[in-house]
Amino acid sequence: MGDKYSIAVLPGDGIGPEVMAEALKVLEKIEESFKIECSTTEADFGGIAIDNHGEALPDSTLDLCKNSDAVLLGSIGGPKWENLPPEQQPERAGLLPIRKELGLFANLRPAIIFPQLTAASPLKDEILKGGMDLLVVRELTGGIYFGSPKVREGDKALDTLVYTKPEIERIAHVAFKAAEQRQGKVTSIDKANVLTSMVLWREVVTELAKEYPEVEVNHMYVDNGAMQLVRNPNQFDVILCGNMFGDILSDEASMITGSLGMLPSASLGEGNFGLYEPSGGSAPDIAGKGIANPIAQILSLGMMFKHSFNRKDIYDAVFQSISGVLEAGYRTKDIYTPDCTVVGTSEMGTMITEKL
Ligand code: IPM
Ligand code: MN
Repeated sequence: MGDKYSIAVLPGDGIGPEVMAEALKVLEKIEESFKIECSTTEADFGGIAIDNHGEALPDSTLDLCKNSDAVLLGSIGGPKWENLPPEQQPERAGLLPIRKELGLFANLRPAIIFPQLTAASPLKDEILKGGMDLLVVRELTGGIYFGSPKVREGDKALDTLVYTKPEIERIAHVAFKAAEQRQGKVTSIDKANVLTSMVLWREVVTELAKEYPEVEVNHMYVDNGAMQLVRNPNQFDVILCGNMFGDILSDEASMITGSLGMLPSASLGEGNFGLYEPSGGSAPDIAGKGIANPIAQILSLGMMFKHSFNRKDIYDAVFQSISGVLEAGYRTKDIYTPDCTVVGTSEMGTMITEKL
């Protein structure tokens, strides 16, 4: 008998269900081709859960996730829920608590330019020199997103940026270990010239680097990092950041790849369990039109096999099929360049499935 994995499937809102449908097509084909059995269970999360259950993260959804081997998430949020009080909105009441509750402190966001897509990148080829392959390692359950106090008092409001040594160490370990498997370089991002918490960040990363003599480490202030990313993205291998800086720089990195619709992510805790979602949002402006790019969702599924199920071969196969479809000239609208053929969400998903 082959392996059997249980996957919690949370399609969410906006383009979430559309791109999820394509990832599930791919999953079915993976089961067939690799003789793997997966059981998928769908649950409401985000805006749809507010509509159906009165809250963004119902206990039943959280329990399902806790009892699964991995979670595949679409994306959540949209204009329909924007007028709710901030603490009830899908992002704040859904995404942040699910990360925290599941202990997912490490967010991996690989930004890879498929060679076929260099023309879709806003950067010139003389800068890209044919490609880009970097990994943003973002701390996900601490920093200014979660620090307290977090208070609104009339015309005054405050958030707190707090990091402890153990929090910095555990995410830095993830970055160093990833670098060992890649080009052996970590760039740690901070704002140690201004923020006390970031002075600690730099100290802890510098200290920990001694445990990884094979890895080269350098430090960059976040403003410089944002600039260097568009000036010369190929100087980076692994970019290590706190929660907020990682949020910002990963969007920037994703845009260099051509589209936010290309960037997958893995959110991991201590064990093999993980949550996998596209880095982009629910894109309400294009939801329901059948034009969303399903590649980030499909790559997120690939990352699930690599990180949670220890099947890098399946990740590679998924990556190759996507490459193949791009090579054949098919593009969703977001990555379209002249002389290519535009296809919709579902055609793109079907073609990737058939290439597997
Ligand atoms: C992301 C998103 C979220 C974040 C928002 C929607 C809360 O931008 O996953 O990058 O800031 O973490
Ligand atoms: Mn973001």
